[in-house]
Amino acid sequence: MSAPPSPVALDRVALAALAHVESGMLLGLGSGRAAEAFIRRLGERVAAGLSVRGVATSRRSAELAASLGIPLGSLDEIERLDVAFDGADEVAPDLALTKGLGGALLRERVVAHAALRFVILVTPEKMVERLGSRSPIPVEVVPFAGAPVVRELGSLGAEGKLRPAAEGGTFRTDNGNLIVDADFGPIADPAGLDAAIRRIPGVVDTGLFLGMADLVLVGDETGVRELRR
Ligand code: A5P
Repeated sequence: MSAPPSPVALDRVALAALAHVESGMLLGLGSGRAAEAFIRRLGERVAAGLSVRGVATSRRSAELAASLGIPLGSLDEIERLDVAFDGADEVAPDLALTKGLGGALLRERVVAHAALRFVILVTPEKMVERLGSRSPIPVEVVPFAGAPVVRELGSLGAEGKLRPAAEGGTFRTDNGNLIVDADFGPIADPAGLDAAIRRIPGVVDTGLFLGMADLVLVGDETGVRELRR
């Protein structure tokens, strides 16, 4: 396990992300540590009078946002978000991402797809030359298909493991599905691999987010870099 990102760096990148928020905006609220740092800073701005509404990508982020007084809506009534803010597990030089170590990948993709801009918040250790270098690819799978998908991923060259829950038993996503963490090592052709994984029956989504990020904010304890696609 790599060391957790510095809270100071996460806060810096959260503050840099806030610069992309204007009053009246509809925002996607991501999941994970970087996204939560952003939600906390956004909550301060809302308490000070900023008017925004958010759509959360996980129950946990929804609870955090609600506890801070950030008004929430859903994609039932909101067709277009202005910006979705989220973290990532890896960022490649072309701003392709891996996501989903927190298990929220499917809702994160749905929310990002609904947004005009997708802004990613990371710390520098997430930057990689090739996706798959530091994280497995999470694959969301309907419960009935867990074991067959692990076997099929094996035939694609991955060591796949059903994700255990921290409290024991098998991890379930907010959608009631399983996650298989598939370790392919550094990936030469992410788009080809993504298509191959999606052809396996029972797969609902993958953690490969290709061609989606518009802006990546990379923050450490001294400053924040902006990478644009
Ligand atoms: C949640 O499922 C993920 O996609 C997170 O956005 C990702 O794992 C990054 O999380 P951290 O900011 O906690 O590293």
